[in-house]
Amino acid sequence: MEKKEIVQLLDDMSMEEKIGQLLQLTGSYFMDDAVLTGPEAEIGVTDQEIALCGSVLSIHGASDLMKIQDKIMKSQPHHIPALFMLDVIHGFRTVFPVPIAQGCTFNPELVKEGASISAKETAVSGVHITFSPMSDLCRDARWGRVMEGTGEDKYLNGIYTKAMVEGYQGDDIKKPYKVGACVKHFAAYGLPEAGREYNAVEVSNRTLFEDYLPAYEEGVKAGAVSVMTSFNTLDRIPSTANCKLMRDVLRNKMGFDGVLISDYGAVMELVNHGIAEDAKEAAKLAIKAGVDIEMMSRSYVSELKGLIEQGEVDQKLLDEAVMRVLILKNKLGLFEKPYKDASVEGEKEVILCKEHREAARKCAEESLVLLENDGILPLHTQGQHIAFIGPYADNKELFGAWALMADGNDANALSEIVPALYPNNGYTFEHACNIVPKDSLLSGLASTLETKYNDQEEALAMDRAVEKAAAADVVVLMLGEHRLQTGEAAAVGDIILPKKQLELLDKIARVNQNIVTVLFNGRPLDLREIKEKSKAVLEAWFPGTEGAYAVMDALFGKVNPSGRLSMSFPYSVGQVPVHYDEFATGRPKGEEGEQNKFCSRYEDIPNAPLYPFGYGLSYSEFSYSDRCLSKQKLNGSKNEDTIEARVTVTNQSEVPGMEVVQLYIQDVKGSVVRPKRELKGFKKIFLKPQESKTIIFTITEKMLRFYDIDMEFKSEPGEFRIYIGHDSLETHAMAFHLVKE
Ligand code: GLC
Repeated sequence: MEKKEIVQLLDDMSMEEKIGQLLQLTGSYFMDDAVLTGPEAEIGVTDQEIALCGSVLSIHGASDLMKIQDKIMKSQPHHIPALFMLDVIHGFRTVFPVPIAQGCTFNPELVKEGASISAKETAVSGVHITFSPMSDLCRDARWGRVMEGTGEDKYLNGIYTKAMVEGYQGDDIKKPYKVGACVKHFAAYGLPEAGREYNAVEVSNRTLFEDYLPAYEEGVKAGAVSVMTSFNTLDRIPSTANCKLMRDVLRNKMGFDGVLISDYGAVMELVNHGIAEDAKEAAKLAIKAGVDIEMMSRSYVSELKGLIEQGEVDQKLLDEAVMRVLILKNKLGLFEKPYKDASVEGEKEVILCKEHREAARKCAEESLVLLENDGILPLHTQGQHIAFIGPYADNKELFGAWALMADGNDANALSEIVPALYPNNGYTFEHACNIVPKDSLLSGLASTLETKYNDQEEALAMDRAVEKAAAADVVVLMLGEHRLQTGEAAAVGDIILPKKQLELLDKIARVNQNIVTVLFNGRPLDLREIKEKSKAVLEAWFPGTEGAYAVMDALFGKVNPSGRLSMSFPYSVGQVPVHYDEFATGRPKGEEGEQNKFCSRYEDIPNAPLYPFGYGLSYSEFSYSDRCLSKQKLNGSKNEDTIEARVTVTNQSEVPGMEVVQLYIQDVKGSVVRPKRELKGFKKIFLKPQESKTIIFTITEKMLRFYDIDMEFKSEPGEFRIYIGHDSLETHAMAFHLVKE
């Protein structure tokens, strides 16, 4: 439709019809045979409100959505098509690795391709918008939703957010197989106090702008058509009612002009927060903050009309919100093609097709991080007796949380594929123990709990595991979290594997020292015991539909692990939050062993994480040499002035492999304290055996900007140090000075 037609449509709409466009309900309300339960039954929408509902979430399927679209358009006085939105966080039916794992690929192009594939499967299933990317920076492994983000670094998160938005949306969401992106959760949801889900966020304004907002802004700059408000408070104001955050920062400073949608029930939660007396006040606060669509609560439909008629809310706010919703529907082409790409035939042709599986497998391969290896890996491909033991040895469910469309029948377990594809070894398999105890507090979702054994059965299985381990040359222990131990409402007080699995590790280690441990988890864990008792540790995260193949090929050397950690693994939960871009403090701790009590340290644990950001081993051996700068002075007053930082990277081994060359910069002195180093660039390169490549990074003044003492975003003259290396621990420094002449 032309803009003027939309304006006319808005003008023709009744108040009730307009307000209906701001209501979002789950698909259950529109399915003939649906039974409403829990929150769906509680919010109490009327039939009339359902009839005018402008958007629907959490339902998919071309056939159903075409029928629902017909039903909605028929019930709408102006036959306005509905928006369909869904959480497609890391794949639709072809499930990609969880985002924290994708963050370890250091391959934005791969992540973008994954988003594009996810968009295609989502679009043919009748859905228009995905509630992704989740761009919340997080440095706290206790928080369950770390699995949904791409790690602890603001620069990397921004790159991945941009890649996902571009993958989902392409250059025009009206085009076939594209969907709209919804950047979430605005803002700083990844910093809940004490890592506890939905808890308050207390952060300085400077840190908010310096670290927590940049990734969202990358999403807005990439053209994301929607943003979702976060559940948390910021500066003691819930985001969903935070005018300053939503209007001044998101809309005015970042230039976002799309649709702002609340998170699930977040508008009415303003009452729980204690800043709204009732639905009426909640509606008033939210519409004034600029929230366009109210997800799964009905304060708008029940209160907005009265608020406007009583003069408490300006009708303009309603019209602006509805206009943004209509413009989004128009951008998707829904007025002309209300089904957009929904297609039953398309679903059969596209979903889980060979190309999609191949892309998911490649992403899984590149997300694997080799944390330890004394040479036991890769496994021999013949003549060995290998025992695969643990609750993930025969488990197809390698999807992780937020894989709503995943189906185990699409995937494989290692126990199924290893003997067939690596037939020249002897193998035994043993599930050995439940992933989590039967009485695990998986918040009422126990029905999905994979608890194979009762206590007696489990004891017998553990005994079998020990026997099989004792008889094997090598034990591959496949351990991990339950997929619902991470994701929403999955915060933990300690970051260790379930105790029964650690007991299994201990029992196995007593009969066989040749242990390779493979981990399936959605957060950094305290791996001290795993590290101590394993000769190799492979971090597989939740690698998705093709994950078993990726892990298997990495274990046997067909794949050379190239993942680098997107988030530090703490030495213990006591260190949390721990991240590489920390500050020096006034009493920096000296080198290990230096006896100085009065410095920034712990009495009982080291400062350093067990595994740092950017870390990861390879079957190859990479060396760095010939580091140099093209000059030692960068003139910040000349836009075109740059410095070239060069390094030669050599594969000293006989194994071809990929290395992630990482560039960190330290601003030695600023008007405010500056991190000891910050990631400013990386290049993932492939090197054949004995091959060398010279890598060049271009340093610009723009890369050196930060929020200074006056909260102005700019660079300051002075000394800078460049570290180019394998991970965030690189010590070789090259200095240059920024001048402004
Ligand atoms: C949830 C999540 C949000 C998701 C939304 C819709 O509570 O916080 O990330 O997109 O509800 O499912």
